[in-house]
Amino acid sequence: MTRSRTSLLRSTLLLSALGALASVAYAADAPGQPQSAISGEKVYERWCAPCHAPGPGHPGTQSLQVKYGGKTPAVLLERTDLSPEAVSVFVRQGLLMMAPFRKTEITDAELAALSAFVARNYKGR
Ligand code: HEC
Repeated sequence: MTRSRTSLLRSTLLLSALGALASVAYAADAPGQPQSAISGEKVYERWCAPCHAPGPGHPGTQSLQVKYGGKTPAVLLERTDLSPEAVSVFVRQGLLMMAPFRKTEITDAELAALSAFVARNYKGR
C-alpha cells in the first residue's frame, strides 16, 4: 500500500471512530429515560435546524419561502398552523428533498417530543 493510501485509510478510520464516539455520546442520555425527559428542542436542533433555521443557506426555509410566497412563515418554528400530528407525518414520510426519518434516527418518543416542540404555537383549526 502506498503512503498516501495508508494515510487516507488512517483518516477514514479516525473519522469513523469520531462518528462512533459522537453517537455514543448522543445515545448516552437517550435510552431508559422517560419520554418527558426527551427534549424536542434538542431533537429539532440536531435533525431539523440545518435545513429549517432562519436565514439563507437553509434549503427547508428557502423552499417553504417559495412554496408559500410569504403567506405563511418560511421558518418552521414560526408556524402556527402545523399540528403535532402533521409534523410527525412530514417527518416520517419526507417531502421533496427532505428525506423521511427512520426510527433508528428519530425514535417514536423523540418524534412525539419533537412534534410537540415544533407545533408549540399551534392554535388548533
Ligand atoms: C435536508 C434538509 C431538510 C431537513 C434535514 C429537514 N427538512 Fe423539513 N423540509 C425540507 C424542505 C426542502 C421542505 C419543503 C418542501 C416543499 O417546498 O414543499 C421541508 C418541509 C417540511 C415540512 C412541511 C411544511 C409545509 O408546510 O409544507 C415540515 C413540517 C418539515 N419540513 C419539518 C421538518 C422537521 C420537523 C425536520 C427535522 C426532523 C425536518 N423538516 C428536517 C428540508 C429539510
